[in-house]
Amino acid sequence: MSNQIKFEAYCDEINAVLHNAIKQEDCLYGKIFDAMKYSLDAGGKRIRPVLLLEFARIFGVSVNDAMPFAVALEMIHTYSLIHDDLPCMDDDDLRRGKPTNHKVFGEAVAVLAGDALLNRAFEHILNNANNLDSDIVLKALRCLASASGADGMIGGQVIDMEGEHRSLNVDEIEQLQDMKTGALIKAAAKIGCILGQASVAHISLAEDYASNVGLAFQIKDDILNVEGDAGVIGKDVGNDEVSGKATFVKLLGLDACKKRLEELTEKAVLSAKKLPDGEFLAWLAYMLLTRDK
Ligand code: IPE
Ligand code: IPE
Ligand code: MG
Ligand code: MG
Repeated sequence: MSNQIKFEAYCDEINAVLHNAIKQEDCLYGKIFDAMKYSLDAGGKRIRPVLLLEFARIFGVSVNDAMPFAVALEMIHTYSLIHDDLPCMDDDDLRRGKPTNHKVFGEAVAVLAGDALLNRAFEHILNNANNLDSDIVLKALRCLASASGADGMIGGQVIDMEGEHRSLNVDEIEQLQDMKTGALIKAAAKIGCILGQASVAHISLAEDYASNVGLAFQIKDDILNVEGDAGVIGKDVGNDEVSGKATFVKLLGLDACKKRLEELTEKAVLSAKKLPDGEFLAWLAYMLLTRDK
């Protein structure tokens, strides 16, 4: 099976479970389920859940057993995007090729849909991770909670907002990227390792891989915000400059960013090649380097 086909097969399984994870309900508050489903079913590249499933596979865990965690991670990522697009944050109109959640459901429901996805993520694991040892489930839950919280993705979002009001230096921007984007990508790798009870040496390689992929991923996102095509990416472009976002593109320029992106990808590939059966992970790092959406 080619890596592309393997990637698509993972996505099909993830999409099917995500689609069924939330039911539309005919009740007084049914609108919240419509809003949650709207963003979950809108697509998205599913990079984080694919990474989680692949790390789990490498360390001997089946797709079925790892899936509740993969789906939960994608729910949290989707909530972060709904909130990221709100007028009080990036104020964007387009996401995953569709009007942003608040454009369709209004700001109040969009805030609540994000909150509800965050809670549902943890509920989904607690209800579905039945085949694994409870110690392992607890360890994975702890990892997911901390990566998503104030010392992880949310902290990164705060630095991102801070960067609109004062200039950030290279180290500060790197911390921003490592937290707002890197935290969930690293969680994908780490949770896969936790589920498979990987050795300390393998966990360290997985962390190296994921932290380089995470930084590269955000630099590519910032490059696409300048050079990308909104019709292909499915989200607004050019807005980082308008809102004065602190990015490497702004600080170092496009050429230096592309060089850095390649270096980070090379480092990720080196770590992937040291992992058992890491060929798909190496391919994925290159795929993310060359992506146009
Ligand atoms: C976008 O993430 C936000 C960032 C953290 C850079 P993705 O590019 O993974 O978005 P989707 O899930 O494919 O929509
Ligand atoms: C989004 O970062 C990061 C999170 C939602 C945690 P950006 O604001 O840079 O990403 P896009 O370009 O809107 O997807
Ligand atoms: Mg943002
Ligand atoms: Mg944004």
